[in-house]
Amino acid sequence: MKNYVLNNGVQIPAIGLGTWHNTDEKTVIDTILNAVEVGYNHIDTAAVYGNEAFIGKALRQCGVDRDKLFITSKVWRTKRGYQSTLHAFEQSINDLQVDYLDLYLIHWPASHNNYDNWAEINAETWHAMEDLYKMGKIKAIGLSNFWKHHIDALMPIANIKPMVNQIEHHPGYTQSDVVDYCKQNNILVEAWSPLGRGMVLNDPTLKTIAQKYGVSVAQVCVQWCLREGILPLPKSTRKERLVDNLDVDGFELSDADMATINAMNLGSSSGSYPDNLNE
Ligand code: A2P
Repeated sequence: MKNYVLNNGVQIPAIGLGTWHNTDEKTVIDTILNAVEVGYNHIDTAAVYGNEAFIGKALRQCGVDRDKLFITSKVWRTKRGYQSTLHAFEQSINDLQVDYLDLYLIHWPASHNNYDNWAEINAETWHAMEDLYKMGKIKAIGLSNFWKHHIDALMPIANIKPMVNQIEHHPGYTQSDVVDYCKQNNILVEAWSPLGRGMVLNDPTLKTIAQKYGVSVAQVCVQWCLREGILPLPKSTRKERLVDNLDVDGFELSDADMATINAMNLGSSSGSYPDNLNE
């Protein structure tokens, strides 16, 4: 597995396994064991996914040393704030049965739609992340679903710059303004739902491109992300698809196909926008 290097020098495996919606204990454990067996060493979860304890069991069973795995979790919206974030982190590492996280993210920014003091709430949450980082409990810290104005508000108070911003990103919904801003600021973009929650897999343009290379549409989506310098987090519970989504080195999308995909417009597959969520 290739790595990206974060702005603090930490290496992060270039493809990770997304685990949202995987909540059944046996399915979670089987998925993680299969994933590790076929070559995943990067697992992305969040407190709100409700699967950290099951992932923790799988990590115990998988037989791979902790330092060979990259584990990400996220603090949920209801746990923002300094003390609350510290507690949420402890809960996550207890459930995951680990003594540190490789990456911890603020799951969603507080926004002006819900809070007058949204910037202050994000700042307090970020200071907790910074302190956990300084204590050595997290190797890297970052954001999720932050748009440019949320990051702009955070930067002046940040003693440590975010290393990652995880956003919805897939063919047809690139959020290029956020991506460009993060690239300019040396913040690695991670793509959640890089397959558009499976919805882009039947897109005729993508199907034509995939057929040309003799690969699956999912493989096209994953390679397209990597070629853009973005870290994809595809989800699957099926072993053959776990393999498929990792096996993206045997072809190379042409510049013309990259441009075709970049020009697609399918909209968000989730419809979740940070400033429109009702909390
Ligand atoms: P399943 O778990 O049954 O494999 P995203 O990561 O964008 O959220 O997309 C996840 C969805 O895409 C899931 O419904 C998953 O279903 C499906 N999926 C994941 N990988 C593949 C693949 N290689 N081929 C087809 N469908 C896939």
